[in-house]
Amino acid sequence: MEVDVKEWLKGKGEIFLRNIGIREGQVVLDFGCNVGHYTIPAAKVVGKGGILYAVDKDMDSLNRLMSTAKEEGLKNIVPMHNRSAELKIGLEDESVDVVLLYDVLHYMDTAERNKIYNESLRVLKNGGLLSVYPKHYKSDEPLWSLSNMQLEDVIREIEDARFSFEMQFYKELIHDRHYNSGYILNFTKK
Ligand SMILES: C[S@@+](CC[C@H](N)C(=O)[O-])C[C@H]1O[C@@H](n2cnc3c(N)ncnc32)[C@H](O)[C@@H]1O
Repeated sequence: MEVDVKEWLKGKGEIFLRNIGIREGQVVLDFGCNVGHYTIPAAKVVGKGGILYAVDKDMDSLNRLMSTAKEEGLKNIVPMHNRSAELKIGLEDESVDVVLLYDVLHYMDTAERNKIYNESLRVLKNGGLLSVYPKHYKSDEPLWSLSNMQLEDVIREIEDARFSFEMQFYKELIHDRHYNSGYILNFTKK
Protein backbone atom coordinates (compact mmCIF):
# COMPACT_ATOMS: atom_id res chain seq x y z
CA MET A 1 0.00 0.00 0.00
CA GLU A 2 1.32 3.49 -0.92
CA VAL A 3 2.64 5.75 1.86
CA ASP A 4 -0.05 8.41 1.26
CA VAL A 5 -2.90 5.89 1.47
CA LYS A 6 -1.44 4.27 4.60
CA GLU A 7 -1.21 7.63 6.36
CA TRP A 8 -4.70 8.60 5.18
CA LEU A 9 -6.24 5.37 6.47
CA LYS A 10 -4.34 5.67 9.75
CA GLY A 11 -5.95 8.98 10.74
CA LYS A 12 -5.84 11.83 8.21
CA GLY A 13 -8.94 10.55 6.43
CA GLU A 14 -10.96 10.56 9.64
CA ILE A 15 -9.95 14.16 10.42
CA PHE A 16 -10.91 15.15 6.87
CA LEU A 17 -14.34 13.49 7.06
CA ARG A 18 -15.12 14.95 10.49
CA ASN A 19 -14.35 18.40 9.04
CA ILE A 20 -16.68 17.66 6.13
CA GLY A 21 -19.48 16.94 8.61
CA ILE A 22 -19.65 13.18 9.26
CA ARG A 23 -20.53 12.31 12.86
CA GLU A 24 -20.58 9.27 15.16
CA GLY A 25 -23.68 7.09 14.81
CA GLN A 26 -24.62 8.25 11.31
CA VAL A 27 -25.75 6.23 8.31
CA VAL A 28 -23.54 7.05 5.32
CA LEU A 29 -23.80 6.01 1.68
CA ASP A 30 -20.53 6.09 -0.28
CA PHE A 31 -21.57 5.85 -3.93
CA GLY A 32 -18.69 4.79 -6.19
CA CYS A 33 -16.59 3.72 -3.22
CA ASN A 34 -13.94 1.74 -5.17
CA VAL A 35 -11.46 0.17 -2.69
CA GLY A 36 -12.71 2.41 0.12
CA HIS A 37 -10.28 5.29 0.61
CA TYR A 38 -13.23 7.26 2.02
CA THR A 39 -15.37 4.30 3.17
CA ILE A 40 -12.79 2.99 5.64
CA PRO A 41 -12.18 6.28 7.49
CA ALA A 42 -15.91 7.12 7.36
CA ALA A 43 -16.69 3.74 8.98
CA LYS A 44 -14.26 4.64 11.77
CA VAL A 45 -15.90 8.06 12.27
CA VAL A 46 -19.47 6.71 12.49
CA GLY A 47 -18.32 3.90 14.79
CA LYS A 48 -20.22 0.82 15.93
CA GLY A 49 -23.53 2.67 16.14
CA GLY A 50 -23.33 3.82 12.51
CA ILE A 51 -23.45 2.13 9.10
CA LEU A 52 -21.49 2.60 5.91
CA TYR A 53 -23.26 1.49 2.73
CA ALA A 54 -20.55 1.09 0.11
CA VAL A 55 -21.77 1.01 -3.50
CA ASP A 56 -19.73 0.20 -6.57
CA LYS A 57 -20.28 -1.46 -9.92
CA ASP A 58 -16.89 -3.15 -9.72
CA MET A 59 -17.03 -6.35 -7.66
CA ASP A 60 -13.26 -6.66 -7.45
CA SER A 61 -13.00 -3.22 -5.78
CA LEU A 62 -15.74 -4.16 -3.31
CA ASN A 63 -13.87 -7.37 -2.44
CA ARG A 64 -10.68 -5.40 -1.82
CA LEU A 65 -12.60 -2.92 0.33
CA MET A 66 -14.06 -5.73 2.43
CA SER A 67 -10.69 -7.35 2.94
CA THR A 68 -9.29 -4.01 4.23
CA ALA A 69 -12.38 -3.70 6.48
CA LYS A 70 -11.60 -7.16 7.89
CA GLU A 71 -7.96 -6.25 8.53
CA GLU A 72 -9.12 -3.09 10.31
CA GLY A 73 -11.74 -4.98 12.36
CA LEU A 74 -14.60 -2.89 10.93
CA LYS A 75 -18.00 -4.61 11.00
CA ASN A 76 -20.20 -1.67 10.03
CA ILE A 77 -19.61 -1.66 6.24
CA VAL A 78 -22.30 -3.11 3.96
CA PRO A 79 -21.06 -3.65 0.38
CA MET A 80 -23.65 -3.11 -2.36
CA HIS A 81 -22.91 -4.21 -5.90
CA ASN A 82 -24.64 -1.85 -8.32
CA ARG A 83 -25.36 -3.98 -11.38
CA SER A 84 -28.15 -1.85 -12.73
CA ALA A 85 -27.62 0.89 -15.29
CA GLU A 86 -30.69 2.53 -13.75
CA LEU A 87 -28.69 3.90 -10.82
CA LYS A 88 -31.19 2.72 -8.24
CA ILE A 89 -30.02 2.69 -4.64
CA GLY A 90 -31.51 -0.25 -2.73
CA LEU A 91 -32.24 1.71 0.44
CA GLU A 92 -35.43 3.03 2.02
CA ASP A 93 -36.61 6.63 1.57
CA GLU A 94 -35.19 9.06 4.18
CA SER A 95 -32.91 6.46 5.77
CA VAL A 96 -29.47 8.03 5.24
CA ASP A 97 -27.70 10.96 6.97
CA VAL A 98 -24.87 11.52 4.45
CA VAL A 99 -24.32 10.64 0.78
CA LEU A 100 -20.78 10.86 -0.59
CA LEU A 101 -20.31 11.30 -4.35
CA TYR A 102 -16.52 11.44 -4.45
CA ASP A 103 -14.63 11.41 -7.74
CA VAL A 104 -17.45 9.60 -9.50
CA LEU A 105 -19.57 12.20 -11.36
CA HIS A 106 -17.25 12.23 -14.39
CA TYR A 107 -18.35 8.64 -15.15
CA MET A 108 -21.95 9.77 -15.67
CA ASP A 109 -23.65 11.74 -18.42
CA THR A 110 -26.14 14.49 -17.55
CA ALA A 111 -29.14 12.13 -17.36
CA GLU A 112 -27.23 9.68 -15.15
CA ARG A 113 -26.01 12.45 -12.85
CA ASN A 114 -29.59 13.65 -12.45
CA LYS A 115 -30.68 10.11 -11.59
CA ILE A 116 -28.07 9.84 -8.86
CA TYR A 117 -29.02 13.28 -7.46
CA ASN A 118 -32.68 12.18 -7.39
CA GLU A 119 -31.81 8.90 -5.68
CA SER A 120 -29.64 10.78 -3.16
CA LEU A 121 -32.55 13.12 -2.46
CA ARG A 122 -34.88 10.15 -1.97
CA VAL A 123 -32.68 8.21 0.48
CA LEU A 124 -31.49 11.24 2.47
CA LYS A 125 -33.29 12.31 5.62
CA ASN A 126 -34.55 15.90 5.68
CA GLY A 127 -31.57 18.15 6.36
CA GLY A 128 -29.20 15.32 5.31
CA LEU A 129 -25.84 16.06 3.73
CA LEU A 130 -24.81 15.44 0.12
CA SER A 131 -21.03 15.86 -0.09
CA VAL A 132 -19.48 15.92 -3.57
CA TYR A 133 -15.87 15.77 -4.74
CA PRO A 134 -16.09 16.75 -8.40
CA LYS A 135 -12.70 15.75 -9.82
CA HIS A 136 -11.96 16.03 -13.56
CA TYR A 137 -14.00 19.13 -14.38
CA LYS A 138 -12.72 21.70 -16.88
CA SER A 139 -9.96 23.22 -14.74
CA ASP A 140 -8.95 20.10 -12.78
CA GLU A 141 -7.57 17.36 -15.04
CA PRO A 142 -10.64 17.38 -17.33
CA LEU A 143 -12.00 13.98 -18.23
CA TRP A 144 -15.09 12.44 -19.82
CA SER A 145 -18.45 13.92 -18.96
CA LEU A 146 -17.28 16.73 -16.63
CA SER A 147 -14.60 18.00 -19.00
CA ASN A 148 -16.76 20.87 -20.27
CA MET A 149 -18.12 21.92 -16.89
CA GLN A 150 -16.67 24.36 -14.40
CA LEU A 151 -17.13 24.01 -10.66
CA GLU A 152 -19.93 26.62 -10.78
CA ASP A 153 -21.76 24.51 -13.38
CA VAL A 154 -21.61 21.46 -11.09
CA ILE A 155 -22.96 23.53 -8.19
CA ARG A 156 -25.83 24.89 -10.32
CA GLU A 157 -26.70 21.43 -11.63
CA ILE A 158 -27.01 20.03 -8.09
CA GLU A 159 -28.99 23.06 -6.90
CA ASP A 160 -31.34 22.52 -9.84
CA ALA A 161 -31.82 18.98 -8.52
CA ARG A 162 -33.39 20.59 -5.40
CA PHE A 163 -30.42 20.63 -3.03
CA SER A 164 -29.28 23.71 -1.08
CA PHE A 165 -25.63 24.59 -1.58
CA GLU A 166 -24.10 25.10 1.88
CA MET A 167 -20.35 25.53 1.44
CA GLN A 168 -17.22 24.54 -0.39
CA PHE A 169 -13.89 23.50 1.07
CA TYR A 170 -10.54 23.49 -0.70
CA LYS A 171 -8.60 20.71 0.98
CA GLU A 172 -5.77 18.27 0.77
CA LEU A 173 -7.40 14.91 0.11
CA ILE A 174 -6.66 11.52 -1.34
CA HIS A 175 -7.17 11.09 -5.07
CA ASP A 176 -6.58 7.57 -6.39
CA ARG A 177 -3.47 6.64 -4.39
CA HIS A 178 -1.90 10.05 -3.72
CA TYR A 179 -2.51 13.37 -2.00
CA ASN A 180 -4.01 16.10 -4.11
CA SER A 181 -5.85 19.33 -3.43
CA GLY A 182 -9.46 19.61 -4.45
CA TYR A 183 -12.85 21.16 -3.84
CA ILE A 184 -15.48 19.46 -1.73
CA LEU A 185 -19.01 20.79 -2.24
CA ASN A 186 -21.54 20.34 0.57
CA PHE A 187 -25.29 20.47 -0.06
CA THR A 188 -28.25 19.74 2.14
CA LYS A 189 -31.62 18.27 1.36
CA LYS A 190 -34.10 21.14 1.68
C1 LIG B 1 -12.33 7.10 -9.42
S1 LIG B 1 -13.17 5.97 -8.38
C2 LIG B 1 -13.45 6.93 -6.92
C3 LIG B 1 -13.44 6.09 -5.70
C4 LIG B 1 -13.70 6.78 -4.38
N1 LIG B 1 -14.99 7.43 -4.33
C5 LIG B 1 -12.61 7.75 -4.07
O1 LIG B 1 -12.82 8.97 -4.22
O2 LIG B 1 -11.52 7.30 -3.70
C6 LIG B 1 -14.81 5.91 -9.09
C7 LIG B 1 -15.56 4.63 -8.74
O3 LIG B 1 -16.92 4.80 -9.12
C8 LIG B 1 -17.40 3.58 -9.62
N2 LIG B 1 -18.58 3.84 -10.44
C9 LIG B 1 -18.65 4.55 -11.59
N3 LIG B 1 -19.91 4.56 -12.06
C10 LIG B 1 -20.65 3.82 -11.19
C11 LIG B 1 -22.02 3.43 -11.12
N4 LIG B 1 -22.89 3.78 -12.08
N5 LIG B 1 -22.43 2.67 -10.09
C12 LIG B 1 -21.56 2.29 -9.13
N6 LIG B 1 -20.24 2.61 -9.15
C13 LIG B 1 -19.80 3.37 -10.15
C14 LIG B 1 -16.23 2.99 -10.38
O4 LIG B 1 -16.36 1.58 -10.52
C15 LIG B 1 -15.04 3.39 -9.48
O5 LIG B 1 -14.75 2.38 -8.54
